[in-house]
Amino acid sequence: MDRPIGIFDSGVGGLTVLDSLRKQLPQENLIYIGDNLHCPYGNKTKEQLLSYTKQICQYFISKNVKMIVLACNTTSANVLNELQILFPNVPIVGVINSTVHDFLVQDKKNVLVIATHATIQSHKYKEMIEKYNQSIHVFELETPQLVPLIESGEYKKGIYSVLNDYLSVYKNDIDSLILGCTHYPIVLNQIMEVLGDKTYISSSHAISQEVYSYLKVHNQLNTCSKKALIQIYTTGDVHDFIYSSSDFFDFTNLEVKHLIL
Ligand code: DGL
Repeated sequence: MDRPIGIFDSGVGGLTVLDSLRKQLPQENLIYIGDNLHCPYGNKTKEQLLSYTKQICQYFISKNVKMIVLACNTTSANVLNELQILFPNVPIVGVINSTVHDFLVQDKKNVLVIATHATIQSHKYKEMIEKYNQSIHVFELETPQLVPLIESGEYKKGIYSVLNDYLSVYKNDIDSLILGCTHYPIVLNQIMEVLGDKTYISSSHAISQEVYSYLKVHNQLNTCSKKALIQIYTTGDVHDFIYSSSDFFDFTNLEVKHLIL
């Protein structure tokens, strides 16, 4: 039960999921990998994504994890099934199922999904939403400039004009927005300045609930009273990683280490 949970993303975006997991499951030992060496994932091919994520899963398995969480929509949309087949002995979950579920219970009619190129091209969100409810109109939009602006820390200066160029044309047509990339909650306040009063859905809360339910049902919640250990790694530069994320993620008592896979 005290085996860790492995969580990964292409960079700092998945920290939005890690943050939610550490709040909802404070007893759990967590290992996070930001694969900054290969970031962004959004413009990569399926083969590339599979090769990067295979290595990450192999690393997690060598650390004896009890579960792997793809804190990344791009890999959830493109390689989740393949990873589940390659590593059948460890449960692997992506963020899209739970995010769609979270959206559907809101009972909205016109939604815009913003995500990376690879996520939008997979049409996973659109297909899944329409499978459950054909009367919902799903707009899809690639927003490839956002991840580099977030990873570089540029977003801190304000990226209103970029967001306005992407989003303002949808303002009157939608009642909800799915942030289909785990990096996007980092700029949620700036997105809200453009779109105003809408229902905003992101992946972090829903996936934490799913992880909690899975562990509970399988009797794998950590009941050990020892303080939980959170390990954070980046395959890129440690200082860059901390610079781009310390405004939204609290690193108190945590160390970020470099990892070579
Ligand atoms: N944060 C990831 C996602 O949810 C990856 C973004 C990227 O690296 O392009 O899609």
